[in-house]
Amino acid sequence: MKGIILAGGTGTRLYPITQGISKQLMPIYDKPMIYYPLSTLIQAGISDILVITTPEDQGAFQRLLGDGSQFGIRLTYAVQQRPEGLAQAFIIGADFIGDSSVALALGDNIFHGSQFSASLSQCRDPQGGIVFAYEVSDPSRYGVVAFDESGQALSIVEKPQHPQSNFAVVGLYFYDNSVIDIAHTITPSTRGELEITSVNEAYLRQGKLQVQKLARGDVWLDTGTFDSMSEASSYVEVLQKRTGIIIGSPEAAAYQSGFIDAEQLQILAARLDKSGYGKLLRNIL
Ligand code: G1P
Repeated sequence: MKGIILAGGTGTRLYPITQGISKQLMPIYDKPMIYYPLSTLIQAGISDILVITTPEDQGAFQRLLGDGSQFGIRLTYAVQQRPEGLAQAFIIGADFIGDSSVALALGDNIFHGSQFSASLSQCRDPQGGIVFAYEVSDPSRYGVVAFDESGQALSIVEKPQHPQSNFAVVGLYFYDNSVIDIAHTITPSTRGELEITSVNEAYLRQGKLQVQKLARGDVWLDTGTFDSMSEASSYVEVLQKRTGIIIGSPEAAAYQSGFIDAEQLQILAARLDKSGYGKLLRNIL
């Protein structure tokens, strides 16, 4: 299974912060935002990952992440010329995906929780699609899924004014290879974007979409506003300080997934000693 991180977009909801720097390079406490979705894909056991950025920011992401070999993975890069929707990732990434299944992680979504980590490995190579739902107080900011009494997904609507439920669809999607064809057949929404929600609706119509509710103890944070970004930073800071366990670290995830050994983790930690990040990596050993 291959992975894609979509880190495009203009970040206008965070202006002026994101006028000079890509949103997904902004810090969430002690690490760049993109580390979190990257570590999510690595936790899922995915080691071949395409990073899609804006044309202007590609160099900065390459400087930060390189070819991925330090994490025992392969990173390649592609550009999204204009913010024309999340589902465009499967058109831009069609050659990269080839005949594999693919997981898409949004570059600004943060996940944390032991049940969540455990369930990731079961999402590999799905028949159809697998998405996750999370109960939120402000569903109209998201794709919203409504369920019937048996817990079966009935509908998914993008940013509804009158949400049918409080369950938001989170920014992590697992699909079989037919997602490439589906992405080519959907049409842009009224906001001019190829919506990921249209992809999910297509799978739902075919009876091939599994919607899993995230467990109560699991946490999903998005970073779409000043407040949610700052809250995500506080969450990571409080938990890391309290437990000494690092959250959203691709180094830690790579070690836990067996992509790097203890010796390589030591080498990576040594490079990050001055900032304190290295110490958190050593705690894993
Ligand atoms: C996107 C998706 C939405 C999803 C959300 C998760 O929204 O369109 O369905 O719930 O990500 O973060 P956007 O952030 O592009 O507004």
